[in-house]
Amino acid sequence: MSNQSSADNPRHHSIIIPADEESSLLRAARALQRGDLVVFPTETVYGLGADAGNEQAIQAIFRLKSRPASNPLIIHCFDTAQAQRIAHFDERANHLARQFWPGPLTMILPVRDHAMVCSSARAGLNTVALRIPNHPTAHQLLRLSSLPIAAPSANPSGKISPTRASDVTLPEDTCLECILDAGPCPNGIESTIIDLSGSTPTILRPGPLTHEQIEAILPLAQYHGKHGRITPKSPGQSLRHYAPSLPMRLNVRQFEADDAALLFDCPTPKQCVAHAHLSRKGDLEQAAANLYTMMRRLDHSPARRIAVSSIPQHGVGLAINDRLQRAAFGSKEES
Ligand code: TXA
Ligand code: MG
Repeated sequence: MSNQSSADNPRHHSIIIPADEESSLLRAARALQRGDLVVFPTETVYGLGADAGNEQAIQAIFRLKSRPASNPLIIHCFDTAQAQRIAHFDERANHLARQFWPGPLTMILPVRDHAMVCSSARAGLNTVALRIPNHPTAHQLLRLSSLPIAAPSANPSGKISPTRASDVTLPEDTCLECILDAGPCPNGIESTIIDLSGSTPTILRPGPLTHEQIEAILPLAQYHGKHGRITPKSPGQSLRHYAPSLPMRLNVRQFEADDAALLFDCPTPKQCVAHAHLSRKGDLEQAAANLYTMMRRLDHSPARRIAVSSIPQHGVGLAINDRLQRAAFGSKEES
């Protein structure tokens, strides 16, 4: 696998440190406590973390990502007890927490304690997005810092989320203390977001935890992206997102010579300038784990566009297609 994105961003090499050393974790936890930022791995993607209650630290996240102030952040908690101090949990929320936390599920809930998560982290809303990550590094960082950690994906706004430390491309800034490197993120795409602030539970963003898994224990509102085009549901979420520099074509059957082919469960085309297999055996979880790294790699190829074969629209396939549609949105080559 190529390492081109880190070559584009050599200044970050000096602050990538191994996550499995106690000294690294202590350094990162102290940085969070004094209001600095830390990039850390989760089971989904790498996050750019800060103390959720520190208004200045949160402002630094928005600045470093060039993120619109209207787009609220996800707050990472150590355990359900901490999450329950931040937000009001009803029976549905408690049930989902018991079933799926720690794990790639973010719940939108009414705020209880307005100080633990400052207003700009919530984009001024009276609801808050909470999750407990299932990753040893994130878990240790939450334990050592004793803070709820606000963390969006560690990419400039609108670009592809990093699933490895070397893929983190953010502008240099003295407040970014370190990037904790724990290798590739196992899930590879962002958490499933469910809105529980209204009467009907609604999926705002499909993710590694599937509709089928959630629906087995809780009836869901019809997901807008399920049978057709995506619609932005979360505040600040835009249709174009996760975007590479090259235009994208989706659901491609006939690949052309100047295509970079991104393939799922199909043979390598003969004439393409570059190609990558999301999963040769048609495994959607494996495809999700590979998606962003392979999109990045193909984006650096001499191709004219990234051409993607079709991905089944069930299970994690919904989340993969959601990301691909956003990445392709506005591409002249979109099909
Ligand atoms: O897997 C993940 O969720 C990763 C890792 C780092 O945990 N984080 C992540 O954060 O994807 P970010 O900032 O890239 O996406 C956060 C999403 C945005 O679409 C935002 O609109 C939504 O969460 N969100 C946050 N608070 C919300 C709220 N109160 N109501 C509705 N949507 C909200
Ligand atoms: Mg993001």
